[in-house]
Amino acid sequence: MSIKSPSTASPVWSVLLAISLALIVSVAIGAGAAADQKPDELEELLEEDVEEIIEEVRAISPVVAERRMEDLREHIERVEETAHAVQADPNSPAGQAAEGEQFCYACHGDGFEHFYNIGDDITTDQANETCLDCHSGGERMHWHGGAHEFQDMACIDCHNAHSDNERLLRAEDQLQLCSDCHQERRVDFHRPHHHPVREGQVECSDCHNPHGEVGSAQLREGEVNETCYQCHAEYRGPFLWEHQPVREDCTQCHDPHGSVHPGMLESRTAQVCQSCHVTLGHPGDVLGADPGDDIPQQGQFMVRGQGCMNCHSEVHGSNHPGGALFQR
Ligand code: HEC
Ligand code: HEC
Ligand code: HEC
Ligand code: HEC
Ligand code: HEC
Ligand code: HEC
Ligand code: HEC
Ligand code: HEC
Ligand code: HEC
Repeated sequence: MSIKSPSTASPVWSVLLAISLALIVSVAIGAGAAADQKPDELEELLEEDVEEIIEEVRAISPVVAERRMEDLREHIERVEETAHAVQADPNSPAGQAAEGEQFCYACHGDGFEHFYNIGDDITTDQANETCLDCHSGGERMHWHGGAHEFQDMACIDCHNAHSDNERLLRAEDQLQLCSDCHQERRVDFHRPHHHPVREGQVECSDCHNPHGEVGSAQLREGEVNETCYQCHAEYRGPFLWEHQPVREDCTQCHDPHGSVHPGMLESRTAQVCQSCHVTLGHPGDVLGADPGDDIPQQGQFMVRGQGCMNCHSEVHGSNHPGGALFQR
């Protein structure tokens, strides 16, 4: 048996649980506010009560017991450290709680109707609506219809209201959180050339809005290049001589997550370029040198150093009057 809403669970246990939790909550809240004044004996008594209640909850719901119930006290203390418990904020659950009412009710329903056991005491939509009551709009403007909502995901797949992680995330960092499901990303960001996400300088959410966004891949600015210009503004141009693929989509040459090739290129420079420039009218035999030849040939520029970039160094665009071929 697991904890259900009062309407479906055994009424005796539900009432008992509700009362117990209400009690323990008032204890925890009281303890924070007036810890200094409280006589030691009272503290001890309350401690015993908490232990008793925890035992009761364990008996009622093995499911809950298996989860974070081993330390309900800690669980409650953690939620009290969050933005949700800030009484001074009139929009927070604590700020909105009526006199003598638990702030927990804003999320759990009056008298603890549910404990977010999705599919058991609450549906995904109901769980999300509880959060969206206060958090719709803004970053979550496109939650409905976004890729994650479409997959029937819940806010609490990524957030845990009782967490002490930043942004109440379920994991300590986004790489961990997101690559639980997007496992290829874990690989990408461990490649030798990657955006410094592991290093904590860039986050998934700098480029993606995990709550949903119009346009492809939930990108922050709705499209690839605008997303990149947030940090790489120097490539925005305009340039006197524009290179078409740079204008169109940075990911035609770069893998935005990580790559084995320097500069996070999709492949080695010459190959990246030749994916579009198949036939070239180069001077001499730039492309056709014999790799086994002892005498350095121009062709070796292709495989050495910067490859095509040895000559076409301004591949993102040039402002030089003579830069039509991006050589300066
Ligand atoms: C901002 C919303 C929010 C507030 C405020 C809140 N909770 Fe929760 N609580 C949750 C969510 C979400 C879960 C589900 C946690 C999970 O599965 O990660 C949860 C889970 C729980 C659980 C079940 C734990 C389990 O393992 O199943 C208990 C018990 C609980 N909360 C008690 C409280 C108490 C007591 C308070 C007030 C001191 C409180 N909560 C305040 C959102 C909240
Ligand atoms: C009664 C209104 C209310 C409810 C219900 C509520 N929140 Fe909040 N939440 C707030 C306020 C107010 C803040 C603090 C201001 C802000 O960051 O927007 C906040 C902050 C947050 C933050 C940012 C915390 C931080 O440290 O930066 C997250 C994440 C969050 N809430 C998630 C949730 C989730 C998930 C739920 C549902 C389980 C939920 N909230 C339910 C009002 C609410
Ligand atoms: C796919 C994972 C994921 C899901 C699902 C998710 N979030 Fe978040 N959320 C995040 C991440 C990551 C951040 C931190 C982003 C940042 O710092 O800019 C965040 C930040 C927040 C914040 C604080 C910053 C802000 O945007 O105001 C709130 C509030 C929040 N989420 C609420 C919600 C609510 C409500 C839902 C469900 C409707 C939800 N989240 C669903 C990953 C998620
Ligand atoms: C619980 C699993 C889960 C978690 C955690 C998760 N995602 Fe997803 N995500 C999915 C699923 C399922 C899809 C839809 C199928 C797909 O495109 O892979 C998706 C889709 C996406 C997409 C593609 C959207 C599109 O339009 O193609 C992006 C981008 C994304 N997630 C980013 C993130 C980020 C960033 C995080 C962490 C903040 C995250 N996801 C956390 C499951 C998850
Ligand atoms: C520097 C910006 C940037 C960062 C940081 C970033 N992404 Fe992306 N991501 C992109 C771009 C751009 C695309 C679209 C790629 C395309 O269209 O080829 C994308 C595509 C995706 C997709 C959908 C396409 C696919 O390959 O499945 C997922 C899922 C995704 N990213 C997850 C993540 C996760 C998870 C993180 C963090 C661990 C992350 N991204 C960090 C820029 C970024
Ligand atoms: C949130 C800021 C941010 C965003 C957005 C961003 N980048 Fe970066 N980018 C960085 C940082 C930081 C570095 C590392 C710089 C360093 O190490 O000197 C970097 C490095 C790079 C590098 C060089 C990698 C190397 O190994 O030399 C490339 C290429 C790159 N970014 C392309 C992109 C593309 C393409 C996009 C858009 C999909 C993008 N960036 C979006 C911050 C960002
Ligand atoms: C036509 C292919 C191509 C396109 C499209 C392209 N780049 Fe690059 N980019 C390169 C090459 C080649 C390098 C050099 C890699 C190296 O250092 O070996 C490079 C290097 C970079 C670097 C690292 C520069 C440094 O000094 O280390 C950044 C940052 C970068 N590109 C960002 C972008 C952004 C942002 C876009 C989209 C606006 C973009 N690139 C589009 C080919 C391209
Ligand atoms: C996604 C396709 C694509 C990739 C990849 C690409 N280019 Fe281009 N490039 C173009 C297009 C399209 C033009 C414009 C051609 C035109 O105007 O006739 C162009 C123009 C040029 C020009 C000017 C030539 C002219 O006729 O205007 C040079 C030089 C050039 N690219 C070099 C490179 C180099 C070096 C790389 C690799 C770093 C590269 N390109 C990668 C598509 C690409
Ligand atoms: C040794 C220097 C050098 C290297 C290396 C080099 N180029 Fe060039 N490239 C030139 C010169 C010089 C021209 C001008 C030719 C002319 O004016 O007839 C040129 C012209 C071009 C043009 C415009 C003419 C045409 O054929 O469309 C493109 C595109 C081009 N290069 C692409 C590339 C690519 C792709 C690579 C790498 C695979 C590359 N180049 C490597 C020197 C070089």
